[in-house]
Amino acid sequence: MKKRIILDVDMGSDDTVCLWLAMLHRKIKVDGITLVHGNTTMENVRKNIFKALDMINQNGKVKVYEGESSPIKDYGFNTDDDAHGSNGFSGLIYDEVPGKIEEISAIDYLINHVNNNPHKITIIAVGPLTNIAKAILKDKNFAKNIKELIIMGGAENYGNITPYAEFNFYKDPAAAKIVFNAPITKIVMMGYNITKKVFIDHQMEKLLKNSTNLKARFLYDISRSCAKISIESGAAKGATINDAINICYLINKSCVLLQKCSIDIETQNLERLAESKVNYPKKGNCFILKDVNKRKCQQIIFNTIFPELKKEFKKVI
Ligand code: BDR
Ligand code: CA
Repeated sequence: MKKRIILDVDMGSDDTVCLWLAMLHRKIKVDGITLVHGNTTMENVRKNIFKALDMINQNGKVKVYEGESSPIKDYGFNTDDDAHGSNGFSGLIYDEVPGKIEEISAIDYLINHVNNNPHKITIIAVGPLTNIAKAILKDKNFAKNIKELIIMGGAENYGNITPYAEFNFYKDPAAAKIVFNAPITKIVMMGYNITKKVFIDHQMEKLLKNSTNLKARFLYDISRSCAKISIESGAAKGATINDAINICYLINKSCVLLQKCSIDIETQNLERLAESKVNYPKKGNCFILKDVNKRKCQQIIFNTIFPELKKEFKKVI
């Protein structure tokens, strides 16, 4: 049976890989897409989602709901993201694709869909947790009815914005705190300290760049900013594909190593704002990513998205 998910995205380059993988893999059924602020403005997030869906001929085949365009609480820090350039797509200018935004909000869709299908829907959250937190605050049954919440965000003893904080959590620390304190049966946190191990290697990048395949070339173009910042910061030797690890895990559990834990989010000590504080008690509703099989993830991602380039990718993965 297919795994039914709602995908909550902020439409940077790794969100796009995550979206493509989820939409194209036979084991996954994307019931709906919810948009959230994060890598770029909501206006750009809206444009990027329809372009990304159109690139895989899926525009119009899944419903898209608009969510929150600012965090629950503004802590007064500059949280602008340059990791995905001026528009989330490394500043790439592309032909806009028209698309339909549903009338009900992302928050109401999340609540209705999860409550109408109790313990059946997995939520994949790969941007700031604003939409999820607001749904939790608005409806008391929502959290309990989620089957599993898989988050790309946070980092264990690491950060890509401050030494303590990862981008998605830093963009809305209050939301992250609400989510980790909610009565959700199972939360998996894919932290950046590990997800950054999976990136587009130099040889793969060359393949994308020189390909006549439009999707391949598009991915190369939109991931330029992320590649630059990953390399300059020393995080990875190419564009990281953090958000897609959530889907790799759903497809094949053996590509990640998880550990049971409890997680809380720092919102008082401003120096350590948004830190994901991990403890390892015997009981707890959270699991944290401890390791990832880079090659397995790359194979799942690229063989699913580019079946037509399987032979070429086989030489470089
Ligand atoms: C996360 O932040 C964004 O830049 C990426 O899309 C990913 O969700 C990594 O810290
Ligand atoms: Ca993201």
